[in-house]
Amino acid sequence: MKKNTCTLLVASMLLFGMAIAEQKLGFVIEFVRHGARAPIYSNAGNFLVPPGCLTAQGMRQRYLLGKMNRQRYIDEYKLVDDTYNPSQMYIQSTNVLRTIQSSYSELIGLYPPLKQPSMSQGEKISLKSGKGMPKIKISNANSNQNDIDALKDDPSVGYQYIPVFNYVNTDANDDVSSQGCDYAQQQANQRGKDNSTYYGVKDFIFPIIRKPFQQAFKLTDKQAYALSFSNLNDMEDTTLAENMEGLPPRFIYSEDQWYALRNIQKYNLISPFEGKARQLWATKMLQKPLGNMTNRFNEIINGKEDIRDSMRYFIHSSHDTQLANLLEFINPDKHEWIDMTYDSTILFELFYDSDCVKTATKDQDLNCFTVHSSHSGTPLKFDTCLDANKSRGSKSKVCTYRDFLTHLAKYQFQGDLQSECQKPYLG
Ligand SMILES: *[C@@H]1O[C@H](CO)[C@@H](O)[C@H](O)[C@H]1NC(C)=O
Ligand SMILES: *[C@@H]1O[C@H](CO)[C@@H](O)[C@H](O)[C@H]1NC(C)=O
Ligand SMILES: *[C@@H]1O[C@H](CO)[C@@H](O)[C@H](O)[C@H]1NC(C)=O
Repeated sequence: MKKNTCTLLVASMLLFGMAIAEQKLGFVIEFVRHGARAPIYSNAGNFLVPPGCLTAQGMRQRYLLGKMNRQRYIDEYKLVDDTYNPSQMYIQSTNVLRTIQSSYSELIGLYPPLKQPSMSQGEKISLKSGKGMPKIKISNANSNQNDIDALKDDPSVGYQYIPVFNYVNTDANDDVSSQGCDYAQQQANQRGKDNSTYYGVKDFIFPIIRKPFQQAFKLTDKQAYALSFSNLNDMEDTTLAENMEGLPPRFIYSEDQWYALRNIQKYNLISPFEGKARQLWATKMLQKPLGNMTNRFNEIINGKEDIRDSMRYFIHSSHDTQLANLLEFINPDKHEWIDMTYDSTILFELFYDSDCVKTATKDQDLNCFTVHSSHSGTPLKFDTCLDANKSRGSKSKVCTYRDFLTHLAKYQFQGDLQSECQKPYLG
């Protein structure tokens, strides 16, 4: 009996292993939030960077994400080459310092310098004495050995130079910023300013968070009662930034209070975009990455899977607003989320079974492709895919590529997106 169980186990492990081995990764779309930053709305002390700027902690977060992605997409799945190949990877950021810096941080993890920095002791001494220094002013005259080590931007180190694209003046071509869709931006501005947008949310959050915030931010009773939702958001923003930096807490929150605090961010992000604004903007955010994914899909299905110089990895480096609204838009099945933390990701990974593609008939071949979706590591399920798989007798929670597109199509704006975005929001 025991022996049989073992045999079965080994057999199923073998099967499992085989199933994994056949799966190839064809394309990845990554939506990602910048790393930890200083508070935007308050000039809380103790931050080494100005309001809204990425902290060292935030750079580290995105660097580590890049390193992890390197393990998965380069070492494990060989999706893209070991060194940067401009035909394979595209990264677009908003025109904001913290997202641009975040992009570079991630890219250093993804495509690290080709050689270990090697500065000899003699070179260091020469720099320290000033002899070997370039003709620049050092603001901190007491700079130490670490600062000298930071001067490694030297060809011998083999940094890989990778462009991060962004639109300096947001226009209709900018899909990452909501400003690229006038209608969405105008709706968000108007709804965001209107206190009534948040009445329902405030009703359940305010009673939980008012007293803690009053103590944390030393408010009078009168001030505490007069707080608007936008004030709550400022305090939440400051609290989360300080917490991430490991600064002394202003208040010890209970679990329920902390949950409510984090929840403020979610509703602050999604409420102004409710409805058409979100539909237009999210459709826009998805169009180019999905267009590129479709190109790759066509390549694979047409027997050109081995072309190396083709787009495979598409990154949007942006903010909590983008990710929050995208996540609401794609409407995952039973996915509870509290807030969009620093460094959050939404990933869509297109997998395929190479043998299946080669042997399937034209009708069946779409079933050789699946899309794995996740939010910061948590797999996402979609009702359309679950229902479609159930109707085919499968209990799989993963979408076929076809079902994934069908699911998105239920929510995407189907008309002329560009002209709809140009229409004014009239309230
Ligand atoms: C929103 O509410 C706050 C206080 O609750 C108030 O000070 C502010 O004037 C209100 N804004 C508008 C536009 O009504
Ligand atoms: C692929 O992405 C690039 C960069 O955003 C874009 O210019 C191009 O139009 C996209 N291709 C498709 C087919 O969507
Ligand atoms: C969903 O159903 C299709 C068709 O039955 C099947 O090929 C697929 O394996 C199922 N789940 C996955 C892994 O997408």
